Amino acid sequence: MSGIIEDVATSFYVTTPIYYVNDAPHIGHAYTTITADALARWHRLLGEDVMFLTGTDEHGLKVQRVAEENNCSPLEWADRTVIRFQDEWKLLNISNDDFIRTSERRHHLSVQKLLQACYDAGDIDLQVYEGLYCVSCEAYFTEAELDGDKCRIHGRPVELVKEENYFFKLSKYETRLLEWYENNPDFVMPKTKRNEALGFIRQGLQDFSISRTSINWGVPLPWDDKHVTYVWFDALTNYITAAGFENDSEKYAVRWPGIHLIGKDILRFHCVYWPAMLMSAGLEPPKHVHVHGFLLVGGEKMSKTRLNQIGPSELVDEFGVDGVRHHFLHDQPFGPDGEFSHEGMLARYNSDLANNLGNLLSRVATVVEKKCSGIGPAPDPKSNLSKVVAEQYDLAANAWQRVAPSEALDAVWRIIKETNSALEQSEPWKAEPGPEVDLVLGDALEVLRIVSILTAPVIPDSSAIIWNRIGLSGRPEEQQLPQSARWGQYPGGLLVTKGAPLFPRLK
Ligand code: ME8
Ligand code: MG
Repeated sequence: MSGIIEDVATSFYVTTPIYYVNDAPHIGHAYTTITADALARWHRLLGEDVMFLTGTDEHGLKVQRVAEENNCSPLEWADRTVIRFQDEWKLLNISNDDFIRTSERRHHLSVQKLLQACYDAGDIDLQVYEGLYCVSCEAYFTEAELDGDKCRIHGRPVELVKEENYFFKLSKYETRLLEWYENNPDFVMPKTKRNEALGFIRQGLQDFSISRTSINWGVPLPWDDKHVTYVWFDALTNYITAAGFENDSEKYAVRWPGIHLIGKDILRFHCVYWPAMLMSAGLEPPKHVHVHGFLLVGGEKMSKTRLNQIGPSELVDEFGVDGVRHHFLHDQPFGPDGEFSHEGMLARYNSDLANNLGNLLSRVATVVEKKCSGIGPAPDPKSNLSKVVAEQYDLAANAWQRVAPSEALDAVWRIIKETNSALEQSEPWKAEPGPEVDLVLGDALEVLRIVSILTAPVIPDSSAIIWNRIGLSGRPEEQQLPQSARWGQYPGGLLVTKGAPLFPRLK
């Protein structure tokens, strides 16, 4: 030991699934991506060294077929579609640090390195396989797992496929996976999804094929280039590609293992296949997999195959970027399925944003203008609201730690509601200017300062506007938690501006 204590920030590496480019982005994709974005932003506020990854899954039969239907090469198709995802994420203010496409060279090299490691470990061999294949899932199913001849996720007929393929010996990893789950009780969260994954493992694991000869759009196997890598083996590897697995061991040491956010449709791949693949190669499984349910429209999963998908930009036109982000983070708890409806979205926007937060800002600015000549007073160091803030901050921080943004926002909105009630009780708009009114308004301004930091991961543009309107310079996302959430830091003496309504009421 050198005796030097290095001040190294905690690494926080979070990922979304990489989305198939056969499809245009819809609000299901946006839901996972917005959640990962808010989580990344929260951890940046905590001063952690964050890497946030999203991207696109471009190989496989499904993409090859869409390309054929559109008379272009799969890569041309991917080049066209990837832009739609990238534009959508820009529109939604997604702060990803990297964007991975599986057609990139860095990824090909990484997949081949992982395959070779599994092959060298004796975990890959050649087998003949015949089975029922769902092209939309890119996966085989047993008859018991189907509804008649249809896949339960996509409601589409499966196809009988017979192939001579290389197989990954998943069966060999049953015991090690069970041990892993035992020793890492929150590997998969929430508990219900952990139980689902465990149930699948306990039922007995079958080897799965990791190559295809029927298509050529993919990564060739390093030891047999007549085969291309199965799209799921390829896709899962993206998480370590971007972490530097192939060519940057220093980065890899810092970044891996990371944390995955996924929808429940791809639980088996992330919670069973993926850790086994990594174990085979002598690598660490991910730290956590956080699994959420489906957004349902009229009771059904939204998807291209069901033609009920809603694009995020349609909602942005009506609710604004922050209105959309806030809705998905506050109204749709992470875990269970949630019904998405336009009425629900409207109600949430009006109650949380227009009536609570927006109203707090506008009434405080109005009264400061009238009673304090527009100069914001300092808060009361012993205000009752300081206790509310401290309690709710702890609840919010704990909720973010568990990837429960809706609970974190419930806590923040309790602060806002308490502050609005305190104002309604003391009615500073009716009182004579003076020290008492100053303290009430100072408290409300202090709450707005703290709330704009706590909501910065969710409504980054609006929180910056609040920050500037109460006279502070810089941006809330430049502050550090938990220090900046401690009561009493609004300095007073700053110019408060009224401005247009931040969240106009919608009909
Ligand atoms: O599965 N509700 O890509 P994908 C909530 N390429 N989330 C939804 C949703 C809905 N109705 N529909 C989709 C793939 N999602 C693979 C992943 S990862 C190594 C490879 C979200 O384009 C959810 O996160 O089909 C789900 O897991 C993901 O989109 C599936 O996207
Ligand atoms: Mg899908």
